[in-house]
Amino acid sequence: MEKYCLALAVMSFVVTSVYGQDTQGFISIDCGNTNSFVDESTKLTYTSDDQYIDSGVNANIASNYKSTISLVTLFSLRSFPSGDRNCYNLNPVVRNSTYLIRVGLYHGNYDSYFSQQSKKPILFDLYIGISKWKTVNITDAGYYYMYEAITVALGEVLYVCLVNTGQGTPFISLLEMRQMKSPLYPYVTVTQFGDLYARGDAGGSKFTRYPNDKYDRIWIPAMIDEWTNISTPQRVSSDFAESLSELPSAVLQTAVIPSNYFGHVNPKYLSAKTIYTPKPQNMPMDLDRYSITLNATSNSTEPALLNAFEIYSILPVDTKMVDPADSKI
Ligand SMILES: *[C@@H]1O[C@H](CO)[C@@H](O)[C@H](O)[C@H]1NC(C)=O
Ligand SMILES: *[C@@H]1O[C@H](CO)[C@@H](O)[C@H](O)[C@H]1NC(C)=O
Ligand SMILES: *[C@@H]1O[C@H](CO)[C@@H](O)[C@H](O)[C@H]1NC(C)=O
Ligand SMILES: *[C@@H]1O[C@H](CO)[C@@H](O)[C@H](O)[C@H]1NC(C)=O
Ligand SMILES: *[C@@H]1O[C@H](CO)[C@@H](O)[C@H](O)[C@H]1NC(C)=O
Repeated sequence: MEKYCLALAVMSFVVTSVYGQDTQGFISIDCGNTNSFVDESTKLTYTSDDQYIDSGVNANIASNYKSTISLVTLFSLRSFPSGDRNCYNLNPVVRNSTYLIRVGLYHGNYDSYFSQQSKKPILFDLYIGISKWKTVNITDAGYYYMYEAITVALGEVLYVCLVNTGQGTPFISLLEMRQMKSPLYPYVTVTQFGDLYARGDAGGSKFTRYPNDKYDRIWIPAMIDEWTNISTPQRVSSDFAESLSELPSAVLQTAVIPSNYFGHVNPKYLSAKTIYTPKPQNMPMDLDRYSITLNATSNSTEPALLNAFEIYSILPVDTKMVDPADSKI
């Protein structure tokens, strides 16, 4: 049974403060690339794998796949034809601090695997330390698979490991680590971590990430059936006193309201509130979906309004006392 928790950002429309852009606690690795470079859109510096892992071999995607993608970080990758378990040692990290880990996988037919007649999916496992994160299932050489987890560092190193389960060669294109402010994700503790299921910018029209989101969460435009997009050109701030999530203004400037609301939306405040489900919800075996309802109160002159949402599965942290880099586990 999977557990999910949900954070909804609900806007009532205040003046914002512009905070300094701090990249301390960020690690950005362009796997398989031997050079460092500055990414044009985020201005973040991506480095080679060298200081984080000793194993694996560098490769480039097939040239016909290069023309189909714009993310240059996906042109190169590192593959692990040998060893059951290959780990990146992300350091330094601050013990007990919370981190976002993002893994990007783009096969790009680098080893001609997908040119073969019978191409079975490539399956391998991702671990954070010794905690199983997920099994990845690569069926398409031209599809970008992106996974994100939020976890607490139990020591001075965070290990992200690729485990070969005998169903194809593990590989990785991109690995990012971002330090988060601790109370942002109250469910993420030393005993459990979050696997991102969805993160949406309701009513948004473009991707938002660093530097607009100072933690470099990637917000994806989301259309919600039967809701109508609304937006404001004015900056909106997460009200620090009331919001746990520190959402970027670009995400808060768009929202959705019920389509059947006939009236003039005139929010008085330009600030946001974040609502969390009080505890993770267990998915009942006989259901295949959750239903979340936002109802305006009967005395409200404004419709219910949603700016953004995040949904995570909650997974247990394995705390066996073993060395995560030990290839025998
Ligand atoms: C880390 O958190 C654990 C559990 O909350 C606590 O026992 C420990 O003292 C903390 N360690 C540091 C270095 O803060
Ligand atoms: C991998 O994905 C394919 C296509 O979605 C699916 O048919 C297959 O069952 C998946 N394999 C596993 C082991 O989940
Ligand atoms: C609302 O925004 C979504 C996401 O950008 C877009 O796909 C959709 O067309 C928009 N709907 C309307 C009615 O403008
Ligand atoms: C919310 O609104 C729906 C639709 O009008 C209604 O069925 C439901 O009972 C309402 N829920 C609450 C908690 O008021
Ligand atoms: C509006 O209704 C809600 C819920 O019914 C109540 O908690 C709130 O105090 C009411 N606000 C006003 C201004 O009456």
